[in-house]
Amino acid sequence: MRVGILTGGGDCPALNAVIRAAVKTSIGYGWEVVGVEEGFDGLVHCRTRPLSTASVSGILHLGGTILGTSNAGDPFKYPVEENGRKVERDISDRVVENFHKLEIDALIVIGGDGSLGIAQKFFEKGVPLVGVPKTIDNDIGGTVITFGFDTAVNTARDALDKLHTTAESHRRVLAVEVMGRHAGWIAVHSGIAGGADVILIPEIPYDIEKVCESILEREKKGKHFSIVVVAEGAFPKGGSLTHRAVKEAGSEQRLGGVAERVAAEVTRLTGKESRVVVLGHLQRGGPPTTFDRVLGTRFGSAAARLVRKGLFGRMVALMPPDVDSVPIRDAIGQMKRVPLDNDILESARDMGISFGD
Ligand code: F6P
Repeated sequence: MRVGILTGGGDCPALNAVIRAAVKTSIGYGWEVVGVEEGFDGLVHCRTRPLSTASVSGILHLGGTILGTSNAGDPFKYPVEENGRKVERDISDRVVENFHKLEIDALIVIGGDGSLGIAQKFFEKGVPLVGVPKTIDNDIGGTVITFGFDTAVNTARDALDKLHTTAESHRRVLAVEVMGRHAGWIAVHSGIAGGADVILIPEIPYDIEKVCESILEREKKGKHFSIVVVAEGAFPKGGSLTHRAVKEAGSEQRLGGVAERVAAEVTRLTGKESRVVVLGHLQRGGPPTTFDRVLGTRFGSAAARLVRKGLFGRMVALMPPDVDSVPIRDAIGQMKRVPLDNDILESARDMGISFGD
């Protein structure tokens, strides 16, 4: 048995913990393991390397991925240059051919919604594969939580702790932009833990007047500073997302800048001085937390077990207290957003946190 492992999409703390566990478990079964480099691009260009117990030694605590990754280069919409223009073409048949050429019997795809969507299409083309859900955004369906989320939340919470004192000293409004394209999980969790006063998330389009009301309400109570946590995918009622750049062929539209927009409007409407901090990719790096190392290890090992049982087309998933599996098709079909009727938002509101609604 020769098993391939690839990491696709944005990197995420504990990817190496997953790789390590999948490799060690597979080797324990007596299998050979190859690492596919830089996501699906490694299969486009046949870039692989053997993975041994020695290759995964000492990586448990490291952020990033030893295999490299990419969130561009979907083989079903591959960017190619034609007549001086970048266009998207379907080169998936070439990838299936390469998969057989590399003599891989089964593939473990560790990726987010995008990479798992690509994996599902290859599975439908006959490639035997299993999935491992990965995202700091925690928005993949089918699993209660993804590894990387806890580390990202801790990074954001740590930043909020630090920003609190400077905001208070200068009587400013600090708008802190965190990641979260489609879901506000990082914003909600870090905001509650970091004592935010306003949290803006994609699930609740905000009204800037309401944001300002709660800041001015705090002023009246003698609280002359406010912390506003803004998910990058938050947008105003009746308005649109804030994009950082024009979308390029083969890659996702980049978001960013909404905190800047919120801060400028808060200053205009309240007269209060504001500052903006965009945490960006800081949230994707660093050593994974204990929780993420354990979850990553459980996911990696469980993925090898799925391969052993021949349960292809399935994704490992945390269903406490167990790690089980669900069809990849089902998981990618249901994005996990912050539920509006959950006690987490109710408790946050009880703490006086405004969601700008
Ligand atoms: O999906 C995870 C994520 O962190 C999103 O929140 C963010 O929009 C995206 O990755 C940014 O990815 P990159 O800058 O690597 O293209």
